Amino acid sequence: MKAVIVLPTYNERDNILPLLAALRTEEPNIRDFRLEILVVDDSSPDGTGELVRDAQQTMPNLHLLIGQKKGLGAAYIRGITHALDILKADAVLEMDADFSHDPRDVKRLLVNIAYGADFVIGSRYVPGGTIPGQWSLLRRLNSSVGNFVARNLAGLTRVRDCTAGFRAISAALLHRIDLKSLKVQGYAFQVTLLHEAIIAGARVVEIPVDFTDRTAGESKLGIRDILEFILNAAQIRLRSNTTFIKFSLVGLSGVAVNLIVFSALLSFGFNKLLASALAIEASIIGNFILNNQWTFKDRARSESLPVRGLKFNAVSLISLSVSFGTFMFLQTIHPDGSPVLHQLVGIAPAMVVNYFMNSYWTFRRVKSVTQETRGPMSAFQEDLTNTKKPQP
Ligand code: GDD
Ligand code: MN
Repeated sequence: MKAVIVLPTYNERDNILPLLAALRTEEPNIRDFRLEILVVDDSSPDGTGELVRDAQQTMPNLHLLIGQKKGLGAAYIRGITHALDILKADAVLEMDADFSHDPRDVKRLLVNIAYGADFVIGSRYVPGGTIPGQWSLLRRLNSSVGNFVARNLAGLTRVRDCTAGFRAISAALLHRIDLKSLKVQGYAFQVTLLHEAIIAGARVVEIPVDFTDRTAGESKLGIRDILEFILNAAQIRLRSNTTFIKFSLVGLSGVAVNLIVFSALLSFGFNKLLASALAIEASIIGNFILNNQWTFKDRARSESLPVRGLKFNAVSLISLSVSFGTFMFLQTIHPDGSPVLHQLVGIAPAMVVNYFMNSYWTFRRVKSVTQETRGPMSAFQEDLTNTKKPQP
């Protein structure tokens, strides 16, 4: 059987040759698969592609795909398609080319495929997995919020590390997924592919890995990736959850109520600030009534209407601070960035907080015995052999 490691690269001049050498050292340890390596380089200006081309002279199992830079997801879609259709892979691995992923873990991922898993995640967030100890609070927050959004907004709650970029996937599963139809360009690809895999009935396994910070070069994750990531997670949810669609429609109607009440009050001669505050409250009340009567109508009620109303108001206030906080944060780290873009980005996490707090707190479900407890995904997680990390 053949396993193809797809390595996307953009400006990895200082990493690529040492990584190829390290992977070569690993080859004899991998029993069930013959390894081939496919570098997908997006015409890196630093000459990464040329280095790989030279290395091909001495590594017959090294392949190179050159393309234009469209993003990590676009590179993976091209690379995985090539690995399946041209190289006839039986398993495909995703791996970063910056040594964040330990080449010695390749063997552990592949052994799980050999034992029948379809989608093996090198996970930072299962017991035993780690993120770099020196990560700042901000990096940690960024990573855990990303995973929170993926797990809860996209509904992939059974997987701990939804954004991981170190994964082995069986070709049998990949052949059931229409890769070309995936509309993700950037890092959102990781969540989308995981979601598609789950829909296709994949047996998903997470094994612990240590994620190390790169020492050479820099991360390519940008604000465009973050925006696509959130919109993509919301889109995944939308396709599978009518409650969320209703909630979003109510939110839109709230915008209309807000603007109508605001203009009406102004024309009655109200003070601007008072009119704005009253219009906001009017939209909150309107949203509450619609969510209470329509979106969450089927939820059994354990609390009185006024209590729910107060909770709804409190949640609105919290999402307002999240939206404002995000805006302030983005303005601080990118002072030259477009304020409108930052305001727009702020709406997304606010919407997430708003939806989840209302869904799990204001209108929370009262558990009944017959209630379906399975989430939208059918992943299984069990201890396949050899999932322990190598001792250092
Ligand atoms: N061909 C190509 N095109 N490669 C790219 C592109 C691109 O547009 N963008 C990034 N890469 C390559 C990098 O050269 C590197 O080999 C790998 O993809 C990962 O990119 P990084 O920029 O180092 O990603 P990161 O460290 O910020 O993110 C990692 O962690 C995320 C989760 O926290 C990756 O593993 C992500 O996949 C993961 O989602
Ligand atoms: Mn990296």
